[in-house]
Amino acid sequence: MKKRILGLVVILVILFTGRLYAIEGMWIPALLKSLNEDEMQEMGLEITAEDIYSINNSSLKDAIFLFGGGCTAELVSDKGLLLTNHHCGYRSIQSHSTVEHDYLTDGFWAQSFEEELPNPGLTVTRLKRMEEVTGQVLDGVKDNMTESERDQVISKNIEALVNETEKNSEYNASVKPFYHGNQYYMLITQTFKDVRLVGAPPSNIGKFGGDTDNWMWPRHTGDFSVFRIYTDKNNEIAEYTDDNVPFEPDYHLPISLDGVQKGDFTFLMGYPYSTDEYLPSHAIEMITEEINPIRINLRGERLDIMDKYMKKSDKIRIQYSAKYAGVANGWKKWQGENRGIDRLNAIEVKREQEDMFADWMKKTEERQDKYGGLLEAFEKNYQQLTPTMKSFYYFVEAGLGIEIIRFARNFRELVEMSKKDEPDEAKIQAELEGLKNAVEGHFKNYNQQIDREVFAHMMELYLENIPEDRYPQVLKDLKDKYKENTVDYAERVFKKSFLASKEETLDFLNNYKARKYKKIQKDEAAQLAMGFYKHYMNNIMPRRNRINNDLDSLQSLYMKGLMEMQPYKRFYPNANQTLRVHYGKVKGYNPRDAVYYKPYTTLKGVMQKEDRAVYDYVVEDKLKQLYNNENYGRYAADDGEMHVCFIATNHTTGGNSGSGVFNAKGELVGLNFDRNWEGTMSDLMYDPDMCRNITLDIRYCLFIMDKFSGARHLVDEMTIAE
Ligand code: ARG
Ligand code: GLU
Repeated sequence: MKKRILGLVVILVILFTGRLYAIEGMWIPALLKSLNEDEMQEMGLEITAEDIYSINNSSLKDAIFLFGGGCTAELVSDKGLLLTNHHCGYRSIQSHSTVEHDYLTDGFWAQSFEEELPNPGLTVTRLKRMEEVTGQVLDGVKDNMTESERDQVISKNIEALVNETEKNSEYNASVKPFYHGNQYYMLITQTFKDVRLVGAPPSNIGKFGGDTDNWMWPRHTGDFSVFRIYTDKNNEIAEYTDDNVPFEPDYHLPISLDGVQKGDFTFLMGYPYSTDEYLPSHAIEMITEEINPIRINLRGERLDIMDKYMKKSDKIRIQYSAKYAGVANGWKKWQGENRGIDRLNAIEVKREQEDMFADWMKKTEERQDKYGGLLEAFEKNYQQLTPTMKSFYYFVEAGLGIEIIRFARNFRELVEMSKKDEPDEAKIQAELEGLKNAVEGHFKNYNQQIDREVFAHMMELYLENIPEDRYPQVLKDLKDKYKENTVDYAERVFKKSFLASKEETLDFLNNYKARKYKKIQKDEAAQLAMGFYKHYMNNIMPRRNRINNDLDSLQSLYMKGLMEMQPYKRFYPNANQTLRVHYGKVKGYNPRDAVYYKPYTTLKGVMQKEDRAVYDYVVEDKLKQLYNNENYGRYAADDGEMHVCFIATNHTTGGNSGSGVFNAKGELVGLNFDRNWEGTMSDLMYDPDMCRNITLDIRYCLFIMDKFSGARHLVDEMTIAE
């Protein structure tokens, strides 16, 4: 009862003020002036929305980049220097590492441009401008159209818009839906293709605390790495070549060494990947009660196996470090999310919101025509979706969690091409080249013992937890032939499959003829992979897509209804990997009874966490020396200490890693890299009391570069605001 009343109060406050969650949200840069500037300035911002996002003059946004597939990075020098997180540069750092040159463990600092390391495939993209194009995109869409007719019109309109814009422009254009398809924006962007690794601290700084401290506050991680954009001699975008030169941007970010204090205004800009703030209660129920437990369990089991082997050998540790971190990250986050949702009583809060929506709807016939049956349809669809999503996550986390299955799936195309009556030799050759690369990539970071154990265990869990009528035919065979002895089964697959051996696989590809495709078809690992894949294609995907299509339309309508019901409330769109502005204040929090967390940490905390016996908590002698001598130079805070990280109420999510964090004057004061565990439910529901973003203090970042790593020349490239 108490919880219900609390939920009701929350809803009423949101409904009537729309301001309770003033700091909640990730806002559209182009709308900053109209929606947020006043509030931001009230909270402390000393510059204007135009200084942050301008299409006519240089502004902060020109220095913010989407880094690779999912992080954010920013320009800090007139020679194209980029800062991002260590965990964002991780795969690049790893790719240049070997047991002899272990840049993950020891760090890496290029002493000259020549020593900076190219990263094929790594790109960075920035936004030049964005325009609302809702009218153009929805032109010709009629109320009585079916969903697929509607989609066709929209796709055609988007294609025309993009072509028209790109025709006379050096930039790229794309159109993305916002507010669940109630608005559309065109993004005009620019992608740089030669991005080189300049430096990274050792992991015991850049990943200090490792997966134990990941998602946690108080935090002491120096999570940064340094890259540089290269262009051709005319300062134009170019693919990597030896003669490329450092990019000379018109604008780069000023850095402040003043730090921030409790209560200070901060904002950040970055590329948040995805959030789901407007879901109905049924969706939250499905995610937290059905899906998250599956993902948490399957990942936990895989992590235990990896960990066992990584502890035994340095080689395996290096090979599996990035894989492990990737698996562990979601595993831990979903646990925090579930607790947060529970503590917020989020399902109940959403139900209250739905009751209110229902009452509002009943008031006029017009609303009933538009929104009648919506909530019931949500319920029905989520009921249908739930078992499908369970199968889907078993496929993804258990099936594709097995590396040899993921690897074997790559051979699908080759079989299809070769089976044709008149196989296209040129295509086959190109496919073979691609596969040879895949072979190198797969085996470089591969340990068969780990995979075999994961294989046996994942199969076991599959058999145990998914009802027989929902698992792939290949598993039925396994059950019949091997009497559920998954260890024997794994043993046999790895013994028989040529895909288990790098030499045999390369040998096969090097001597490939179209008629040899049967060898793939007969291979046990390939059969499994194809079996899983077929099951996904025939039994999971169509159902999931059909229901999700219906849900997309419902969600779009619900969003429209919510906005209509609360016309005075400012809504922010869910994250969709477009540039956003987030703002809030530096603030501590009470994680649990009697405990208060201060909003910043210092180097003292690194020393307190030190543990020689635990890999994640080793502290280098040199860092200890600097600490003992308080040799912090101009990077010390006013209190004389070396500040390491701070937290604030900015509403961030995955993809905001590496985002530049700014003070009221728009000077760079840190790099966002994480959220607190108690706040990870903010992807579904934000709580101003509990949700904090975690930022690396820029002074610690520069201190490590300058005093610890001897890369003073890089700091000298930057612009320090006086
Ligand atoms: N939790 C952060 C994010 O979601 C950092 C992840 C990388 N660090 C790690 N220890 N796994 O991406
Ligand atoms: N570490 C996350 C990232 O890689 C940011 C943390 C979050 O999810 O807020 O983007």
